[in-house]
Amino acid sequence: MTKFLNESAESIREKIIILDFGGQYSMLIARRIREAGVYCELLPFHTPWSEIKRLEPSGLILSGSPASVNQENAPRCDSEIYKGGIPILGICYGMHLLAKDLGGEVVRGNRSEFGRTSFEIVEREPLFRDDDFLDPGNCCAWMSHQDEVIKPPAGFDVLARTENKTLAAIGDRENKIYGLQFHPEVFHTPGGHNVLKRFLYDVCGCSKTWGPRSFVEDAVEKIRRVVGEDQKVVCALSGGVDSSVVAFLLDRALKERAVFIFVDHGLLRLDEAEQVVQLYREKLQGQFIHVNAEKVFLEALAGVTDPEEKRRIIGAEFIKVFKEKALSMGDITYLAQGTIYPDVIESGTINGAAVIKSHHNVGGLPAELGFDLVEPLRELFKDEVRLVGAELGLPDSILKRQPFPGPGLAVRIIGDITSEKLSLLQQADAIFREELQAADLSEEMWQYFAVLTDVKVVGVKGDDRHYGPVIALRAVVSEDAMTADWARLPHSLLDKTSLRITGEIPDVARVVYDITSKPPGTIEWE
Ligand code: XMP
Repeated sequence: MTKFLNESAESIREKIIILDFGGQYSMLIARRIREAGVYCELLPFHTPWSEIKRLEPSGLILSGSPASVNQENAPRCDSEIYKGGIPILGICYGMHLLAKDLGGEVVRGNRSEFGRTSFEIVEREPLFRDDDFLDPGNCCAWMSHQDEVIKPPAGFDVLARTENKTLAAIGDRENKIYGLQFHPEVFHTPGGHNVLKRFLYDVCGCSKTWGPRSFVEDAVEKIRRVVGEDQKVVCALSGGVDSSVVAFLLDRALKERAVFIFVDHGLLRLDEAEQVVQLYREKLQGQFIHVNAEKVFLEALAGVTDPEEKRRIIGAEFIKVFKEKALSMGDITYLAQGTIYPDVIESGTINGAAVIKSHHNVGGLPAELGFDLVEPLRELFKDEVRLVGAELGLPDSILKRQPFPGPGLAVRIIGDITSEKLSLLQQADAIFREELQAADLSEEMWQYFAVLTDVKVVGVKGDDRHYGPVIALRAVVSEDAMTADWARLPHSLLDKTSLRITGEIPDVARVVYDITSKPPGTIEWE
């Protein structure tokens, strides 16, 4: 049973619901609304009105969609939403849908409008203000549509038009229902976030009630309510941002009734385990347990070369070690997990899409462990998790930590894993990190690390022939790890790193720099 699953939205006072029709920017709309200080959630487009009403939203947003409202089986929402008296904003497909549902006319236009498009404001109130757009007679917005509304429903006024005379914004002020043909949420609609704010603050009457502080207060209160007066919660710590934020929240809410288990698989970067242990011991009031399981993991991995097999073994070992320890702690009812909002959406809970990153879930724990789940971060985006972490007083060493794969250095040692190889890679990786940080470039990178290849080459060290392994350096810039570009690091930095690695680690014969972007490469080598 997962707590915090359905009750998140109910306990938050003011909220906006986005009905998601599968548009590529739905998530971005949610982010923009939260940035404006208003809590919001995405729900599947087919959510029944009774369910929506129960959540008492201050406003509804109908998202875009790759579909056309005139196609057979076009995604539709419960038409009761229009009668509920709740303000509605339809964006692109959302506008077409509400126009059609309310008796207007939508056709496939003669001319599709994609990209930057000028429009003219016809009526300012309530969505447009002079200072939102630099030139109110010629505003610019990002469009991506083929359908268009040619006749708005009765009671609707035209609020803006494009230079092609397409209706760019329509509204029924009396019933507070509005439609935008353009995307106010994207960066390329310069005044767009203000249009959204007008809808949130002026039409829906929301105020800025959402932020890290209110989140922490609510979450602490909720954890206490869910867990009760005398139950205990166990939490797996990895040193990463999400699990650390969960831990600090639990600690604040439950103090000594929180039990933290750090399964140290020995595959972390140089000195990282010690730093993590020191920090947690110092800051957490709950019970902290460090399980040093390097030997167990290395034994299980001995001779294994296939990356997926390595992941499987590490995942299985992790669960085994954690379970054993957790069960030995006695009467624990709950398990806290660092599931975040994108995980909830990607797992298909939101729009039914079954996208699961199977190889990215090492460190995740299965439901069969026998605990009830508590997932206090289910509503947060990654950057919000960091803000909450800062609010809870987590140090930068955790908050700004670069993403690190659950299977750790196991997927950065190509071929089989031995403790000698592990130690060699840890040293090379530490040198690269030191140099990149000294050059003040670390914050510009998404990830940067060393890989121990399984290639051995000839070199010359001193006067002798040397035969040893190749270290590859990898540094990438990225927004979200879905795509990534190799980082154009200064030659002087690469030079110094290479000199230090070959000089300080006698075995290394050569250092190379990976200049492959993603796609076609991936960030990790395995
Ligand atoms: P790739 O290599 O697929 O990586 O471009 C994308 C992001 O995911 C991380 N990654 C993992 N994270 N377990 C994880 O927890 C894994 O098995 C795993 N493999 C890759 C990678 O570091 C990057 O941030």
